[in-house]
Amino acid sequence: MCEARPVIALDFPSFEAVKQFLALFPAGESLYLKVGMELYYATGPEIVSYLKGLGHSVFLDLKLHDIPNTVKSAMKVLSHLGVDMTNVHAAGGVEMMRAAREGLGKEAKLIAVTQLTSTSEEQMRDFQNIQTSLQESVIHYAKKTAEAGLDGVVCSAQEVKLIKEATSPDFICLTPGIRPSGAAVGDQKRVMTPADAYHIGSDYIVVGRPVTQAPDPVVAYHAIKDEWTQDWK
Ligand code: C5P
Repeated sequence: MCEARPVIALDFPSFEAVKQFLALFPAGESLYLKVGMELYYATGPEIVSYLKGLGHSVFLDLKLHDIPNTVKSAMKVLSHLGVDMTNVHAAGGVEMMRAAREGLGKEAKLIAVTQLTSTSEEQMRDFQNIQTSLQESVIHYAKKTAEAGLDGVVCSAQEVKLIKEATSPDFICLTPGIRPSGAAVGDQKRVMTPADAYHIGSDYIVVGRPVTQAPDPVVAYHAIKDEWTQDWK
């Protein structure tokens, strides 16, 4: 299930910035790129067609969360853009997730956000009024996501083992918060190296600033990719 290319988070504010970044890579090198809300709302759906036209794979990270019918219709639109993977909030419920799957179809992978990694256990208890541990809540949402027929979840690398035990080994765990040894952690709280993420069972790793802000992004990307795949059989 593992994807050999680390997914690069294109956290840029404009089309121009993306073009400048991608121009650094050799023509023909196929990348897996994550388009988040900032870029998508700044550029519109054209960004997806543009990246797909260059031969890249696209994870559209819009984290949809609305009534089932609205999410289903929105997913239908996204399926026409040719995204390879997109996501919803598991908190929208099993019915919403099933509707999302129906709208998107089977071509693209569909994953869910369980608890955002920015949510602390205290916040979850006080604000969401969920009186379990954060980990139990994440596992609960992961099970519901599997029940709804989705392909996997976005999670912290620390949660992968428990999530796979609670669902199945094939259930995709896509993990952000990846930092090569010695890199700046930034605002990420719990980080893991690419090699450790592989050993713990991550299927996809998402890396943003360690590549986009590197003095040489191409070198940084390949170093991370090499570390991610070095022990693959
Ligand atoms: O720059 P950095 O490697 O921290 O970027 C990680 C990317 O993954 C960002 O686009 C961030 O929004 C996203 N992400 C995350 N944690 C989550 C979900 C998404 O860091 N739980």
